[in-house]
Amino acid sequence: MALNDKQTFRDALGAFPSGVTIVSTTDGEGRHWGFTASSFSSVSMDPPLVLVCIANTADSHPAFMKARRYAINILSQGQEAIAMHFARKGVDKFGPHEFRYGSEDEPHPPVLPGSMASLVCTAHDVYAAGDHTVLIGRIEDVELGDATPLVYYNRGFRNLELETEAETLS
Ligand SMILES: Cc1cc2nc3c(=O)[nH]c(=O)nc-3n(C[C@H](O)[C@H](O)[C@H](O)COP(=O)(O)O)c2cc1C
Repeated sequence: MALNDKQTFRDALGAFPSGVTIVSTTDGEGRHWGFTASSFSSVSMDPPLVLVCIANTADSHPAFMKARRYAINILSQGQEAIAMHFARKGVDKFGPHEFRYGSEDEPHPPVLPGSMASLVCTAHDVYAAGDHTVLIGRIEDVELGDATPLVYYNRGFRNLELETEAETLS
């Protein structure tokens, strides 16, 4: 692959199936920020660390650079529309959707009901990496849902066929 062959690079990355997340935070003025991300990964068990990469050009980038807390909401099947909505720039991202917001008494980032899981993180580290920034979060709280995960593969959303025990054994 030629180094400048971006298409081959994209095709290779598209060969890796991943989940889909919405990463969300609330800034000091009470404004909510969020973006769709598939670059989520677990990092460490002890302490419990995860990562997600944000484009330096994202409108929410400055807010995530300053954020002390953010949530990583792991999306479930049926949340494709909200995934696409949070991948759009210049729209009212939170207005049309029902998040659970923190309060002065109980500050926490926006949590999306119906997700597979919402990981509430404190900002642990930030690394500049090319045209993205790696956000390392320390998981402080987890809310687990009961659903089927949304999968992203080869630039499209996919439904995961859960194997039954019979299929696994056959
Ligand atoms: C399935 C999917 C996965 C994405 N993953 C990422 C990602 O990991 N990091 C990222 O910075 N943008 C990712 N994007 C693009 C952002 O969601 C998009 O650029 C968004 O508009 C950024 O929000 P903002 O500019 O309003 O902050 C992804 C988009 C889609 C549809």
